[in-house]
Amino acid sequence: MSSRVNLRSALAAATAAARAAGPLLVRAMGRPAHVDTKRSAIDLVTEIDRRSERLIFRLLRRRFPDHGFHGEEQGHLHPNAAWQWLIDPLDGTTNFVHGIPAFAISIGLLHQNIPMVGVVYDPTRREYFTGIRGRGAWLNGRRMRVSRASRIADSLLSTGFSEKFRANPAPYIRWFTAFQRRCHAVRRMGSSALSLAYVACGRQEGFYEQDLWPWDVAAGMVLIEEAGGALSDFLGQPVTLPRTRTQLELLASNGRIHHAMLQLLQHPA
Ligand code: IPD
Ligand code: CA
Ligand code: CA
Repeated sequence: MSSRVNLRSALAAATAAARAAGPLLVRAMGRPAHVDTKRSAIDLVTEIDRRSERLIFRLLRRRFPDHGFHGEEQGHLHPNAAWQWLIDPLDGTTNFVHGIPAFAISIGLLHQNIPMVGVVYDPTRREYFTGIRGRGAWLNGRRMRVSRASRIADSLLSTGFSEKFRANPAPYIRWFTAFQRRCHAVRRMGSSALSLAYVACGRQEGFYEQDLWPWDVAAGMVLIEEAGGALSDFLGQPVTLPRTRTQLELLASNGRIHHAMLQLLQHPA
């Protein structure tokens, strides 16, 4: 069963699910009825995050009843299945709550822990960033490639600050300072999925962040690899997505500046 999944059909199903959920987000942007907090006072969640996830689950489960489904808000169904969907129904909730149109729906499909299919959908700009392992990556159906910039000095980077920033801001500030002093600018997009999509399509050259969740990056990892970019942790080691709710760090780049970014992550100055 598992080896017979048609990746193009899986991508079409994921894209359709993201398209269906998009209007929920756009309609409620800036005025969600209920804003709750999760692990901390700055970890926001709304009823729209939950509704979006329920809708995506329902649409994908209808097509792939044997697959595992791991969503940010609803937990894990069939955790031992070979094929696993990793779903962030609203990446960038803080932007969404404040009415800033920089958020996305991120849906990744893994086989034996390897990201195979990814969709990052920005419903405010109607941009679909899609990828299939071994076949390519596309922005609204057109092939996308990482940028060809080969120097940090010619690069636009992005990052995010995890909740741990409050307790220990020093390393985040050191990294930010080291990059900001050398590149065009360091953006803090507020959506790791969009950051990865922007590196994949060449708008940015690199993205780094700690304490990401698997659903933040599963789809984006397919995009980066298929658009010709590079992925690693901050030591340059390959990144394996955990099957559990475990956080990870990720450096994604256009490949050409990867080594220089690794050096600054390890020795920020
Ligand atoms: C968050 C966003 C943010 C990143 C955090 C994520 P959420 O996801 O991607 O940019 O800095 O690490 O958890 O909570 O908006 O889905
Ligand atoms: Ca997220
Ligand atoms: Ca989310």
